[in-house]
Amino acid sequence: MTRIGEYSPEDVLKMVGDIPTFPSVVSHLMKQLRDPEAGLEDISASISGDPGLCVLVLRMANSPLYRPGFAAPATLSIPRAVHLLGRKAVESTVLSYALKSMLRTSTLAEKLLWEHAVACAVSAAEVVRIMGSKNLDTAYVCGLLHDVGKIVMCRRFPEAMHAILEDQYNQSSEDSWPSSVASEKSRLGIDHCQVGAVCLNVWQCGEEAAVACAYHHRPRDAGGRSVWPAVIRVADLLCHKLEYGPIRCPAMEMGPVQRALRIETAEMTFVLDHLRTKIHEALSAFAETPSA
Ligand SMILES: [Fe+2]
Ligand SMILES: [Fe+2]
Repeated sequence: MTRIGEYSPEDVLKMVGDIPTFPSVVSHLMKQLRDPEAGLEDISASISGDPGLCVLVLRMANSPLYRPGFAAPATLSIPRAVHLLGRKAVESTVLSYALKSMLRTSTLAEKLLWEHAVACAVSAAEVVRIMGSKNLDTAYVCGLLHDVGKIVMCRRFPEAMHAILEDQYNQSSEDSWPSSVASEKSRLGIDHCQVGAVCLNVWQCGEEAAVACAYHHRPRDAGGRSVWPAVIRVADLLCHKLEYGPIRCPAMEMGPVQRALRIETAEMTFVLDHLRTKIHEALSAFAETPSA
């Protein structure tokens, strides 16, 4: 396994124990989605074998995210939904299903981590759209998975992680926040960036997602691979500002984000409003869907 970040994969595995596995339908679909020989019919057949995933794929295909303005008629057919979404959006949907399956408990901390994952996915896609890139799907996956290390650590160290997340949630100003990375390292000896990057490597979610995850709190350390970590850093700040997730800072000064996006204050207000609506739509599409 390639080393990304300061710990070797073996060190991380020693510290967190077993890495959770994806539901078998997800692992199978991830292979199919990357196999150019596998057609949309094969992918549809795999999805059709899992009722929970069928519901989610249909919801996504019929959501305002992929059916803006409700121009096209709603579909109840999996092959049609897969065709409407396309391979990349099916991959994001399958990965969302996998992530949701890891969040079985209904604690506030896990609910906030789920909201943050979806919000950061939507924000990252918006960030690259504003920057003029077409890689919206890669951005979405990187945003969705950037804090997956926190979810894995919540399963391995539930008490310590819930205490760290609760501390962050209860802080009222940006200055008083303990950095999640520093708190995790001092209490558990490792942080969610390292854990997440190793998990994403094991799950074969793509190098972009693993690098974005490893360096999203310090993009400069990624050297020549800093593009995705920097995108996720900006998306993360937008989520803090909009209060999606355990870290909430509605009063955050947006100067650094505006400079990164090269936009003026008036446009920033528009971006935040637009983003709030899109995140709400995405969370509604996932609400109440069964998990694996
Ligand atoms: Fe993070
Ligand atoms: Fe985050």
